[in-house]
Amino acid sequence: MDLASLAANVCRIAMNAGSFLKEERKTFRRENVEEKRAHDYVSYVDKESEKLIVAELSALLPEAGFITEEDSAVYRGEPYCWVVDPLDGTTNYIHDNTPYCVSIALRTKEELLLGVVYDPCRDECFYGWKDGGAYLDGERMRVSDVRQLENAFLMIELPYNSNEYARTGEHLLHSLYGKVGGIRMNGSAALGICYVAAGRLDAWEEAFIGKWDYAAAALLVLEAGGRVTDFYGNDNFIDTHHIIATNGHLHPELQTLIREALPLGM
Ligand code: IPD
Ligand code: CA
Repeated sequence: MDLASLAANVCRIAMNAGSFLKEERKTFRRENVEEKRAHDYVSYVDKESEKLIVAELSALLPEAGFITEEDSAVYRGEPYCWVVDPLDGTTNYIHDNTPYCVSIALRTKEELLLGVVYDPCRDECFYGWKDGGAYLDGERMRVSDVRQLENAFLMIELPYNSNEYARTGEHLLHSLYGKVGGIRMNGSAALGICYVAAGRLDAWEEAFIGKWDYAAAALLVLEAGGRVTDFYGNDNFIDTHHIIATNGHLHPELQTLIREALPLGM
């Protein structure tokens, strides 16, 4: 499989969907929002974006199945599988905040092959493929070289599962706030993880996320020289729901902090 040319095609598909998101935002109304579960929102925009992406990816690689956030397509055990978030950052989007993006990964049962994340707000396309490197608009990405947690610029996301996650979030904030270079939260897991690949952030973590939230961006961090594991430090993270993505240097310390207060039920 020619992953480089496949990535170019997937970038085009993600950019089409991203333009659709941006265009719809101009006339978007809050009455269009439905709540899937507490505080987890969706609208016709997520669903239409997914339909567009699924139709184009099906034409590109007919033998691949799908894992998608809005469940418009299925996975039947095919050897290849697209993992699609048609709108990551939905809560930002419905409140007319940024960032939000489209995230598309291709994987086998064992490994990630390709990842594309397109941010229509900044018109930035992050992409890469296995053993081929990670890129932002044609420029090779490398993770940062920050080695001490006290100098680190981190992103701590707060998932929808507040009951299970509260003590972990509190422990991280309590341990890190005032002691590191800065803490942020941006409401898009895919873009937060891409920023680690781009060296804009030194580390990122979240639990209770979907494969579609992290699959594409996680591959980019690996290809940019960083490290991605689950909360237990396993390098085989592709079917998990809890992710630590770092420049590598900060991984052990962040993982230790998380292990001190693992989310309930994990
Ligand atoms: C969410 C975003 C958010 C993260 C949530 C995700 P969605 O995805 O990535 O940053 O905190 O856990 O579910 O709902 O906007 O696609
Ligand atoms: Ca989504």
